[in-house]
Amino acid sequence: MNKLLISLLVTIGITGVAHAAGDAAAGKGKTAVCAACHGADGNSAIANFPKLAGQNEKYLIKQMDDIKSGKRPVVEMTGLLDAMSDQDIADIAAYFAKQNGTVGHAAKDLVEQGQKIYRAGIASKGVAACTACHAPTGEGNGQAGFPAIGGQHAAYTEKQLQAFRKGERNNDPQQMMQDIAAKLSDAEMKAVSSYIQGLSK
Ligand code: HEC
Ligand code: HEC
Repeated sequence: MNKLLISLLVTIGITGVAHAAGDAAAGKGKTAVCAACHGADGNSAIANFPKLAGQNEKYLIKQMDDIKSGKRPVVEMTGLLDAMSDQDIADIAAYFAKQNGTVGHAAKDLVEQGQKIYRAGIASKGVAACTACHAPTGEGNGQAGFPAIGGQHAAYTEKQLQAFRKGERNNDPQQMMQDIAAKLSDAEMKAVSSYIQGLSK
């Protein structure tokens, strides 16, 4: 094999699907239709709709690809991404990644339990600490495509954990989140989701 082919294979191996670099300015103009649910700057006002502001590009691109292909079904977004090219998706991701995400508050009575789960996991049940992949600040890991979750609406986070546990959301690589969610009780999901809502970078 020649060198170029090898380096190309390595690149694809690391980044998954190769996408063109996104242009945030061009992306802004492509997000008008998204604003109704996600907010103009990606800070949605509705707790069931995820904030996209400050999310890393790699994760945003993967989710848009998965929503477009149906691998992650989102009925509210049916058809919305069908006409979008890879470049459109990369531009939109670049735009939302550049916006500042807002942070909410954790419920006082859930902070202690939520923080414990987030920072230490639950050893007796084999639940890994969320910090391992989502970082102590909740900013995730952009290079790995692990999502930023700090400041996210608690209702949305809880809904995702429930969906991972039921297998209704199953687009996570190596079932990383399905395995974790399967071991969490409803009360633990509620506590950690509340804690995450108040977690800031
Ligand atoms: C009618 C409301 C609605 C509109 C319009 C909409 N979305 Fe969404 N979007 C949602 C909902 C609801 C979810 C989460 C569904 C779930 O609970 O899994 C979502 C999820 C997402 C996610 C995954 C976020 C994450 O943290 O995993 C991305 C990325 C996204 N939308 C991008 C877009 C883009 C880009 C547009 C515009 C082209 C758009 N959405 C338009 C409702 C909407
Ligand atoms: C081994 C790494 C790892 C650990 C540990 C981990 N996560 Fe995740 N998490 C991921 C990955 C990877 C994704 C994105 C899956 C995808 O690509 O769809 C994710 C996605 C999520 C999402 C969905 C985010 C969104 O915007 O839709 C939530 C919520 C979440 N994780 C919460 C948690 C919580 C709470 C914990 C601790 C109890 C935790 N995670 C521990 C790797 C991890």
